[in-house]
Amino acid sequence: MRVLVIGGNGRTGRLVIDEALQHGHKITALIRNPSTLPAKEGLNIVKGTPLEPSNIESAFNAVQGDFPTAVIVTLSSPQEKGTRVMSDAHENLVAAMKRHGISKIVTMSSFGVGSSLANITVIMRWAISKTGLGHSFADHNHVDEILKKSGLNFVLLRPSRLTTARKARVQFLGDDGKGLGVFAGMGGVSRASVAACLVEAVEKSTWDRSTPVISN
Ligand SMILES: NC(=O)c1ccc[n+]([C@@H]2O[C@H](COP(=O)([O-])OP(=O)(O)OC[C@H]3O[C@@H](n4cnc5c(N)ncnc54)[C@H](OP(=O)(O)O)[C@@H]3O)[C@@H](O)[C@H]2O)c1
Repeated sequence: MRVLVIGGNGRTGRLVIDEALQHGHKITALIRNPSTLPAKEGLNIVKGTPLEPSNIESAFNAVQGDFPTAVIVTLSSPQEKGTRVMSDAHENLVAAMKRHGISKIVTMSSFGVGSSLANITVIMRWAISKTGLGHSFADHNHVDEILKKSGLNFVLLRPSRLTTARKARVQFLGDDGKGLGVFAGMGGVSRASVAACLVEAVEKSTWDRSTPVISN
C-alpha cells in the first residue's frame, strides 16, 4: 500500500519510513524542508505542511494512479500556550481523508493523554500541570477528540518515554496504561519499536478505534 507520512523527517518519522519501506510499502512524505530527508527508492517527498489543506491535497495526489490508502502521523507540537499544530493537522487530514474515502489513520500520541493520565508518574503529572509540556498534551488531547468523532478507523498509540534503543518486544497496556507500576513507563519504549507498531497498526485492524499505551 501507499502510506502518507506526516512528520517523516522527525526522529520517529524516519524510522517509520524505513520500517514501512522494508515491509514493501510505498511512502509519500509531506515535509516542510525536503532537503532534511534523504531520497530513497519507494519514497516520494512532497514539500509542504499539514497545516495547509492544499499541501495535504498535493501530497495525496503526488503519485498518479497510486493514491495513499492510509496515513501515519509522527508530528510534535511546541510547548506553547494554545498550540494547535497537531489538532489543525488532524482536522485538515480528516477532511481530506473523508473527501477521498480513505479511512485509516495511525497517530503517535503519548502516555499521559486522555484516560492514561491517571497512570503516569507523579513527576510527569506535575510537569503536565505546571510546565509548557501541558500545552503539547492539551493539543494531543484535542487530537483524541477529533479522531474519536471522525468516524475514521483511527489508532492512537500512546508510547511511554521515547528512547534510542533498538527495536524490542512491546507491551500493549490498554487505553489507560495500567500495570506499569510506580515508575510507569520511565524505562521507556524505543522509537524503533514505536515505528514498527505504527506500521503494524496500519497493516492490521487489531487496534482500530483504540488508544493503547505501549512500552518495552
Ligand atoms: N519524548 C518522549 O519521551 C515522548 C513520549 C511519548 C510521546 N511523545 C510524542 O512524540 C512526538 C515527538 O516525536 P519525535 O521526537 O519523533 O518528533 P521530532 O523528532 O521532534 O519530529 C517532529 C516532527 O514534527 C514536525 N513538526 C513540528 N512542528 C511542526 C509544524 N509547526 N508544522 C509542520 N511540521 C511540524 C517536524 O518537522 P520540521 O522538521 O519541519 O520541524 C518533524 O517532522 C510528540 O508528539 C510527543 O508528544 C514523546
